[in-house]
This record gives sequence, structure tokens and C-alpha cells, in this order.
Amino acid sequence: MKKKTLLTGDRPTSNSYTIGQYPGTLKARIEAQDDYECLIFSADYHSLTTHFKNPSSFRKNAIELVKEQISLGVDPEKVNFYRQSKVVETFRLHVILSMLITMPELQRQPALKEKIAQGHTLTYGLMGYPVLMASDILIMNSDVVPVAKDQEAHVEIAAYFAKKFNSLYGNVLKPPKKLIGPILIGLDGKGKSGKSTGGIFFNDSTQDVKKKVMSMYTDPNRIKATDPGKVEGNPVFIYHDFFNDDLDEVKDLKERYVKGKVGDVEVKEKLFNALERFLEPVRFKKVELDKLGDDYVIDLFEKGEKKVNKIAEKTISDVSKAMGI
Ligand code: TRP
Repeated sequence: MKKKTLLTGDRPTSNSYTIGQYPGTLKARIEAQDDYECLIFSADYHSLTTHFKNPSSFRKNAIELVKEQISLGVDPEKVNFYRQSKVVETFRLHVILSMLITMPELQRQPALKEKIAQGHTLTYGLMGYPVLMASDILIMNSDVVPVAKDQEAHVEIAAYFAKKFNSLYGNVLKPPKKLIGPILIGLDGKGKSGKSTGGIFFNDSTQDVKKKVMSMYTDPNRIKATDPGKVEGNPVFIYHDFFNDDLDEVKDLKERYVKGKVGDVEVKEKLFNALERFLEPVRFKKVELDKLGDDYVIDLFEKGEKKVNKIAEKTISDVSKAMGI
């Protein structure tokens, strides 16, 4: 039986993922690689929507992010890596789809409001972010799209576009299903641990990880180590739950925490140790990959692009036929 297609992408606005991205979209890639045809791309043109003034780092960042994924367990023999900018059919579909949504609908997007609140200029391109994302998804005939919770609405818009197109011109585009992963809250207990909000990065040094863990927020109402503390919603315990493989230790810490029998320092030190157990092999693998040089990743991209361009050409040909252009 033909495998279903799983598609996902990241904007290369940074050269490393945060560990907060691991439980959601990164883990989904590793778990899906045997059962799905996985398409994983670098959304370099999407990065322009907010970083159009300084795009020169995208190229290198994209390479680093691929190496990091491989270090984490994504198998380059099984998945297809490619760059969004190398699939020109995406941008043809983008123009067509841009007629199928109104400005007020785009303006209502929560993700757009958030970007404007962050100070980004509301350009025509930024407004069209979900249209481009729908084009990425639909051009590849994707079945599932694993994304973090904050991108959920975008996948729904892609499904909306597919249905709208099909109702106007005939059944060509496949409405994708979303696979929503958790996003970890930031180290300060607020927001998400995204690339822009300064979480713990996979390329942080041991010293940096230590510094960041020791300054994490805990239960704000707890003043002394002998005060009973709260575990729910406490960032340090949320990270313990995701990253500490020593379940007995986590259980013991929680029990003592609520009784006021353990200090924040011990809880954090144990989290630091757990994170280092997780990060150390990833760092090791990354060093090995760095030795292969950037061309290793460029070759992977080119191999992936050969394959996905065929899919994209077929889609655009079906689209054109259906529309009679
Ligand atoms: N918007 C996604 C992010 O910021 C990146 C992205 C662009 C994407 N196009 C996509 C993700 C298509 C999944 C599918 O993380």
C-alpha cells in the first residue's frame, strides 16, 4: 500500500531548535519516518515575512537545522529534506489560492495579530502567510501535517482552501489532517519555548544549559524550601515530565515538593542532569555531522528536491487542467 504523506517545515530564522520543540513537531517526525512518506522542508521564503531585512543567515541556518534533526534521530535515508524556495510550483499555487480568501479572513488570524504585537510590519507578504503555508501543504498532496498548537489554525486554512478550490473547479486538492503536538511553556513560565523567546537550544553548551535551568521559574508562591510547593503548572516539573527518563526520581521529587521537603536548587540540579543525559548524545552526533561539511546537507536537499518537484509538477498540472488554464 502506498504510504501516506506527512509534511512539515520550519522557518530557518535560527540555527538551532529549542528543546521545547522536541515533544511536539520534532518527535512526530522521528516516530513517523517508518510509516509515512515524510517531507520536511526549510520554509526559507516564509522567513522573509518577518525577517526580510536580513535573509542572509537562512541558508546556513537551514543546513544546521537539518543536521540537528539527524542528530536527534531523523533518518536522512528515510525522509526527504528540501528547501521551499526550490519548489517553484508552490508559488504558482499561492497566486491561485490568494483569490480564494478575503482580506478580513486573513486579518482575523490569531498568529497574524501576535506577529504584529511583536512589532513586525504588516506587509502584503506577512498577511499572506497562511496562503503560502496552504500552498506548501496542498502542492505536496499532504495527508497529515504535524504542527505545534500555535499553527493549528493554519492547517485548518489549508483544508479550507482545498475544499474551496474543489468546489469551484473540481476535485483536485486534498484537505490535510492536522496532528497537533504540545508546545512547552517558556523557562519563565510564560509564552512558548519558541526559537525567538529564548528557551534552551540544542546547541547550547553545558554551561548555558546549567545557567538557564538554574534561573527557571518555579512556584512563585513558595518562598522557603520548607513551604509546600505546587507541581502543576510549575515549569521545572513540566520539563521534568518531558525530559527526565528517571521516573522514580521525578515521582520522589514531586512528593517531597508538595510537602516542602525539597528545595528548588535540588529539583533544578536534577533537571539539569536529566537534560544533559538527553542532550549529550545529540551534541556528539552533531559534531560528527559537522565534520561532513555543508555539502552533505546540500546533497540531501537536492535529492529531496528532485523527488518533491515531481509531486509539485503533477499537482499544478492537475490544478491547471481543472481550471482550464
Ligand atoms: N509556519 C511554520 C512555523 O513557523 C512553518 C511552515 C511553513 C510550515 N509552511 C508549513 C509547517 C507547512 C507545516 C506545514 O513553524
